[in-house]
Amino acid sequence: MELVLITGHSSGLGLELANAYLEREATVIGMARRSINSKNPRLYQFHFDLSREGNWEDKLRESLPRQDWSRVVLINCAGTIAPTQPYGSMEGLQISRAFELNVTAPLRLMNIAVAVYKDRPLRIVNVSSGAAKKPYQGWSVYCSSKAALAMASEVLAAEMETAERDVRVISYSPGPLDTPMQHELRKKKPEDFPQVERFVQMFNEGKLVSPKEAALDMMKQIDRTDLPYYLDYRL
Ligand SMILES: NC(=O)c1ccc[n+]([C@@H]2O[C@H](COP(=O)([O-])OP(=O)(O)OC[C@H]3O[C@@H](n4cnc5c(N)ncnc54)[C@H](OP(=O)(O)O)[C@@H]3O)[C@@H](O)[C@H]2O)c1
Repeated sequence: MELVLITGHSSGLGLELANAYLEREATVIGMARRSINSKNPRLYQFHFDLSREGNWEDKLRESLPRQDWSRVVLINCAGTIAPTQPYGSMEGLQISRAFELNVTAPLRLMNIAVAVYKDRPLRIVNVSSGAAKKPYQGWSVYCSSKAALAMASEVLAAEMETAERDVRVISYSPGPLDTPMQHELRKKKPEDFPQVERFVQMFNEGKLVSPKEAALDMMKQIDRTDLPYYLDYRL
């Protein structure tokens, strides 16, 4: 029996992942501020605001099921693109909250998972973005937080390789996805988000990837038997 922990299971890519894992009989723990309308007895939902300095950490540690899982998968999918303003116009608190959600919460979860499931095969996916490697104006927080998360993934993989543990880490970039995150970006004014025109164009030209396609591809990567300790992957 497989246990899958997914942050941001209430929307977009995380929602597709949760549904696909439930369909293949996994037990799923979803963590987000909203819940989804599902009566599936294998879905456990935690209402966590992951941008709030680990208020949720103790509750999660004590609630995690300690069965003999055949494999445990942690997918850090929750993320925010805000703030999208250039330097000089950002709010300080929004910068801190975004780092808490995009970087600190995934690190806390990786830290918990490798401690609680130390005898189990573990697969960890941190959802990344092309923005981790390329600077985009107005996205200083998003670019730098995704870059930090990718480096944190690589360090974890190195530690697990040294310890010879059955843990593999994937930094997964799905490409531009047709999700509410993109919908919100397209609604922005150019003065608040200098790149809005590029995003409207990508949508109009049908260049967005469906979140279902990305979810199924990610699951395929997770299942690979030849997975290296660290995989930097782009769909
Ligand atoms: N969309 C793209 O084009 C694109 C491209 C590359 C990478 N990505 C990455 O893919 C991942 C999923 O993005 P998406 O497009 O599916 O976005 P989305 O539809 O906006 O979903 C974001 C998810 O994150 C959760 N979340 C946001 N703030 C949270 C908070 N404070 N606490 C807990 N959960 C929170 C949301 O849940 P609640 O609102 O219920 O809390 C939601 O489930 C993100 O990491 C994103 O950076 C997206």
